[in-house]
Amino acid sequence: MTDEYKQVAAHKALELVQEGMLIGLGSGSTARHFTEGLGRLVAEGLKVRGVPTSRATAELAAERGIPIVTELVGQIDLTVDGADEVDPSLNLIKGRGGALSREKLVAAASKRFVIVVDESKLVKQLGNGVLPVEVLPFLWRSTAERLTALGVSLVLRGGEEVPFVTDNGNLILDVSVEGGIKNPTDLGVELKKVTGVVEHGLFVGMTDTVIVAGPDGPKAIGRPPG
Ligand code: A5P
Repeated sequence: MTDEYKQVAAHKALELVQEGMLIGLGSGSTARHFTEGLGRLVAEGLKVRGVPTSRATAELAAERGIPIVTELVGQIDLTVDGADEVDPSLNLIKGRGGALSREKLVAAASKRFVIVVDESKLVKQLGNGVLPVEVLPFLWRSTAERLTALGVSLVLRGGEEVPFVTDNGNLILDVSVEGGIKNPTDLGVELKKVTGVVEHGLFVGMTDTVIVAGPDGPKAIGRPPG
């Protein structure tokens, strides 16, 4: 059922697409439905270009005939991406797929940032699950120590023998905050200050609209679609 909801939310976002747009293409299973749908529209003659947030999405877009842009001058018209957690202020945790840095770069360059989720992603407070933090591999244990000094716990994604490596050649530390994240803005600022941290998965004040799907169909929260 969850995948069906993801598809419903992603397909609703296709209604925001207009001829000639430059579109940020998210990563993960929900965003995949959007890219596949966009591919169908392109096959029918729609002219758009995509900015992929991961290698996997770039491959999918190429397979589906969506022209790709990797060097950007100016802004992206619309970005559609998934999320791991969405709070009532539309702040997000992203990065369970490991694409958080490129996702944040694309979101930050977008006129409109739309999140597509199934209803299980809505939470009262962020931090139910882990918060992914991308770090440089060089001296990563020292970076991890500086992070734990902030009062969080963490694990290296994939483990030390076969660590997960991001598209940028970096590592992911999955951070847990006991009791949840009370102030996402402050935590985001603190994480960014840690030497060795490339990016973190808190997306604060970036989302324009969340399209959430459940048994009652899709509904939009935030800036209305259209
Ligand atoms: C990728 O790094 C993530 O930010 C995904 O957008 C997020 O994990 C949502 O993924 P699903 O749509 O697969 O749940």
